[in-house]
Amino acid sequence: MHIFIQNLFTILWFIRLVSSCYTFETIKICICLFGYWQSVTSFRHYQDLIPNGQNVPHSCIENFLWHGIGHQSFKGGGPLNRFGVDFIKLKKVWKKLCPLDSDGDGMTNGQELGDPECKWTRNQMPERTVKITNPGNKINEGNEIIPQLKLTYLIIGICDPINSLACKGRNYFLKCKEDHPPCSVLKEEGIKNTTVRMPRTSIPAQQTTYVHTFVELPSDGDYHLVAAKPFLDNVRAIHHIELFGCDEYNTDVVHWNNPEGYSNLTDSSGMTLFYTTKLRKHDIGTIMVGQMSIDIPPRSDRVAISGTCSSKCTRDKLTSPINITLLGHHMHYQGIAAKMELFRNKTKIAVLSNNEHYSYDLSRPIHLKTQIQMLPGDEIKMSCLYTSKYKTTPTHYGQGVTSEMCYGFVYFYPIEHSPLSRCIDTGIFCLCTY
Ligand SMILES: *[C@@H]1O[C@H](CO)[C@@H](O)[C@H](O)[C@H]1NC(C)=O
Ligand SMILES: *[C@@H]1O[C@H](CO)[C@@H](O)[C@H](O)[C@H]1NC(C)=O
Ligand SMILES: *[C@@H]1O[C@H](CO)[C@@H](O)[C@H](O)[C@H]1NC(C)=O
Ligand SMILES: *[C@@H]1O[C@H](CO)[C@@H](O)[C@H](O)[C@H]1NC(C)=O
Repeated sequence: MHIFIQNLFTILWFIRLVSSCYTFETIKICICLFGYWQSVTSFRHYQDLIPNGQNVPHSCIENFLWHGIGHQSFKGGGPLNRFGVDFIKLKKVWKKLCPLDSDGDGMTNGQELGDPECKWTRNQMPERTVKITNPGNKINEGNEIIPQLKLTYLIIGICDPINSLACKGRNYFLKCKEDHPPCSVLKEEGIKNTTVRMPRTSIPAQQTTYVHTFVELPSDGDYHLVAAKPFLDNVRAIHHIELFGCDEYNTDVVHWNNPEGYSNLTDSSGMTLFYTTKLRKHDIGTIMVGQMSIDIPPRSDRVAISGTCSSKCTRDKLTSPINITLLGHHMHYQGIAAKMELFRNKTKIAVLSNNEHYSYDLSRPIHLKTQIQMLPGDEIKMSCLYTSKYKTTPTHYGQGVTSEMCYGFVYFYPIEHSPLSRCIDTGIFCLCTY
């Protein structure tokens, strides 16, 4: 298989429970998962009205958050749960909500959300920010009239603990896996697949570990990769997986997240790659942009950080214009919005991407309907917005999930026009490399 040496072929930087599909034919790139954005966090500001609102773990997907805390769906939107109903009924006043036990599980909403004495006020640090549980989860079925919304609701709560006998058959509505729309390119004739995996390895008893391994790809012909799917072995610990093209081998990078520091976990995750002999018209390349100098003070509502891929770098490295077709953002849990803009001669000529509701768990590539041309000498500005309300210490750049990043991925063609793969602001200079 043909993998470009200079091109970090970052197929998926978020391969947690996410598959992606790229078709390169006629330069159309199809992202089968595109369209997740709409349902997400439209009521994000509600999260600010309750303690730890952005900090509630998912009921059954490890390492995921329950974003729609008052909703039956973790993404938010759609039917409410008991907590959501109380939230509306009590006019979103935390002081009134706090002493209630909305889901009837024996713990008050305040206890579940880290404010056992109901002292929390908006923008304050809650008494506790760990061991947060969902105040809307308990068997609680039945019709409920919500005068404020002028509707009658069928309330369904999650039966907890979800694997107990008492809960058998009652969590039928709960999705413990993300469901993906079908990836149409996989129906194409002659699609082959191969699964590359880490050898089974013990995960060190520390929060964050990155490991690398070399994997072999088919070398009996010229192929194009058209889609990738995560192959998850230890869902509890896997954070993300990347595939890079290297000199002689291809390397698979796995990032493990082991916050409890268990010493008995192992993993052998990887990814299934789909490829074809039906070669597309162009090969695609990636340029990584962003900012490596990150310093987010604690307890701040909004902190903006930006980095520029410099004019000098693109003038030096681009030999001819390139066409941008797809973009990706990468921040961690404090990231709330991201934007990429293209500048020519100091004038903004295009907004490449703009996600005002960034969510780490639901991050997806962004497909441009109209491709944007980039010329040698153009600049790309990557802007990242964070919130550090619940942090008591500063946050710096780093690979762990409690550190932050501010990266953008720019996918372009034809690769022959740019060997550039990193154009990253370090705060001091622009890192400009193949
Ligand atoms: C991979 O290909 C094999 C046959 O070559 C097929 O049986 C299998 O279902 C494919 N795997 C996936 C995930 O599509
Ligand atoms: C790993 O260790 C944890 C904590 O000691 C324990 O709860 C868990 O059951 C262990 N898992 C396995 C697979 O041994
Ligand atoms: C890139 O896009 C421009 C304008 O959309 C188009 O004219 C040009 O043909 C494209 N380049 C290639 C190599 O297809
Ligand atoms: C930028 O401005 C300079 C001087 O005005 C001009 O020569 C150059 O062609 C411009 N570059 C682009 C990409 O338009």
